[in-house]
Amino acid sequence: MVKNMKKLVINGAKPLVGEIEIGGMKNGALPIIFASLLITKGTCTLENLPAVKDIDLSLEIIESLGAKVERTDKHTAVIDASGVSVKEPPAALVRKMRASYYLLGAELGRFGTAVVQYPGGCDFGGRPIDRHIKGFEFLGAKVTETFSESGKCVRATTDGGVVGANVFFDDVSVGATVNVMLAAVCAKGVTVIENAAREPHVVDLANFLNTCGAQVFGAGTPTIKITGVDKSELHGSTYAVAPDMIEAGTYMVAAAATRGNVLIKNVIPKHLEATSTKLEEMGVKIVENDDSVQVSVPGELSATNMKTLPYPGIPTDMQPQFCVLMCVANGVSRLVEGVFDNRFQYVDQLRRMGANIEVNGKVATISGGSPLYGAAVSALDLRAGAAMVIAGLCANGKTEIDNVNYINRGYEDIVEKLRALGADISLINEED
Ligand code: UD1
Repeated sequence: MVKNMKKLVINGAKPLVGEIEIGGMKNGALPIIFASLLITKGTCTLENLPAVKDIDLSLEIIESLGAKVERTDKHTAVIDASGVSVKEPPAALVRKMRASYYLLGAELGRFGTAVVQYPGGCDFGGRPIDRHIKGFEFLGAKVTETFSESGKCVRATTDGGVVGANVFFDDVSVGATVNVMLAAVCAKGVTVIENAAREPHVVDLANFLNTCGAQVFGAGTPTIKITGVDKSELHGSTYAVAPDMIEAGTYMVAAAATRGNVLIKNVIPKHLEATSTKLEEMGVKIVENDDSVQVSVPGELSATNMKTLPYPGIPTDMQPQFCVLMCVANGVSRLVEGVFDNRFQYVDQLRRMGANIEVNGKVATISGGSPLYGAAVSALDLRAGAAMVIAGLCANGKTEIDNVNYINRGYEDIVEKLRALGADISLINEED
């Protein structure tokens, strides 16, 4: 069978120079799309949605449950969730992305019962959902695993709806924090989440819910308090999703790694603090403005040590990109993955380009400073794919990256944006 394969082709070793505009935060937009299922009165107009595959998928999932979705422009969707009911969404859609597990919290919050297949998403080792389940159980839900024709499902049921409670997480989880928030918005009584994730996506979700009449306090701190409101008190609203700190961070690292000079616009510099600080430590110059950052490299890049952590630490979603920067920086860097068990699978791809990296469990030791060379590599997951693009931009010669679909899940118009900065990059269709 002849297969049509898309590949990114990059002729590297050119500095990125110019200006770039960052889009809406994918990982903030996803929970907000699922949160719109809680709204039965009026429509939700969601603005500044990034035009990426995961957003399309999540809108398709809520449509499959009965929501009416109108895409009024590339970045705006109007959602009417009044006709939604609890039913298993198509497994093929759910398995394509991690965030489909937010259906559990949203359905529990609205209907007191929920069912969804186990989610898909990037493979960084085991990605259990035990903390989500524990959170729902704190709220009085009975959670069971069931099997249907479409595979293993999680089913959560309550006796007449969730009840507010103290929810304590042993370890921080973005997804579990979001899911409990969604479930608790219309609970009877007050829910207090301790050891909550503090990521900007959590704050964005709380802000959206509050514009719809919810009472969520303390998002962005380790303690979130939610006073349950009656479902009839929630109403539609217009909400613009905050800028994507990972997209911004990726272009910051790309600018640094190619020794370019790029103004990155439409960002919240506070969200980028951990990334900026680490870049500065490596010799990168960052000038912060109100809603933009200028990234340039006045001298040599030098090695550093780094560990990814939940926000406000360095995001794990920036780890592969920083790994590439460490490859081109002088000296030996130590990079520790502090969030996921197995997030160095992409390192073999970088080795094909001449990178000198040793991995021992969750620690990578990178001997940097030697040039990278173009090669045929794969985007093994979304952020690893972004790292391959950065490596290709730095490398001498031609790099070809396959599995491009991964990259499209999280980076809007990446080819156009990089071309505008002077990169020699194109997307080709190759017959196999
Ligand atoms: C979200 C992001 C992802 C990011 C991650 C950490 C979305 C769609 N995805 O993923 O891009 O890399 O946050 O910032 O927003 N864990 C458990 N049990 C659970 C839940 C999590 O053991 O029930 C573990 C995970 O395996 C991981 C760690 O906790 O080791 C953190 O995961 P979590 O914060 O939940 O990440 P996600 O929400 O899956």
